[in-house]
Amino acid sequence: MSQPVSEGPVVVVTRRWPAEVEEELRRHFPRVRLNVDDQPLGPEGLRRALAEADVVLPTVTDPLPADLFGGEVRCRFLGNYGVGFNHIDLQAAACAGVVVTNTPGVLTDATADLAVTLMLMVARRAGEGERELRRGDWTGWRPTHLVGTELTGKTLGVVGMGRIGTAVAQRGHFGFDMPVVYCDSGDGPADLGWARRVDTVQEVFETADVVSLHLPGGGANTHLVDSGLLARMRPGAILVNTARGDVVDTRALIDACASGALAGAGLDVYEREPDVPEELRKLDNVVLLPHLGSATREARIGMGMLVLDNLQAFLDGREPPHRIA
Ligand code: DGY
Repeated sequence: MSQPVSEGPVVVVTRRWPAEVEEELRRHFPRVRLNVDDQPLGPEGLRRALAEADVVLPTVTDPLPADLFGGEVRCRFLGNYGVGFNHIDLQAAACAGVVVTNTPGVLTDATADLAVTLMLMVARRAGEGERELRRGDWTGWRPTHLVGTELTGKTLGVVGMGRIGTAVAQRGHFGFDMPVVYCDSGDGPADLGWARRVDTVQEVFETADVVSLHLPGGGANTHLVDSGLLARMRPGAILVNTARGDVVDTRALIDACASGALAGAGLDVYEREPDVPEELRKLDNVVLLPHLGSATREARIGMGMLVLDNLQAFLDGREPPHRIA
């Protein structure tokens, strides 16, 4: 990045970031306001940030709906720390003259690894076993104890074949010898040779033993996975969601897992984070993680550095590499 200017823009960071990246911010932006308490700013705090700062660096826990862009907006650059942006009304931001960027790519491997972790945990009943042992209920090895299933040779279905979906498909196919079927509503790959593209999400759900979701939240994708789609899954199938919670109708998923129609589900994201329905938490065949997809040092530092790259391009008058509005 270029050297600090005497004062520079007022930059608001909405949550704590990795120390290495906060250090970079301090070095280059003397008027940066870091969130040392790491508490969400809330609607009023975000409104104030948009009104007072030249640059706001939000993340997934900062809803930025249209009305926040309706008032006084001094902010000219919104650098989202994260790849998903369904929490930001991009149209309203653009109308208010705010450039918006995100951080794709650097969290692909971390998130794909976590999707596979969830598949394995559900298939091998690892969560159940861990809880049993910690409760002190393990009575020792026996042939019928917590018998799960193997991923090897099972069909993997990927909904949304972007960067993360493709990385999950690669792990499944080349790591576990899984035939892969996928669908993509956008410009995902037409044919990969080792993975078969199908036309509809229904076909993926009907064909696969393990379905992994990799599509954005919000809009038409809200409750895309409903009771009808879940009913199409093979008996004993597994659903994994590391994308966005609202893509799955939680009520329908609870019913499918409780009835035994599905072998189980692995979830990293929820409809109303951080609330996770008690009924879901009670299900033994559901593995629940607290939105950890990108939670590796590599990914989280990479995300911060990418926000800074986008910001520096904007300040230099260049097109930010990951502009979304
Ligand atoms: C994202 O980037 O959208 C994740 O949900 C958080 O890393």
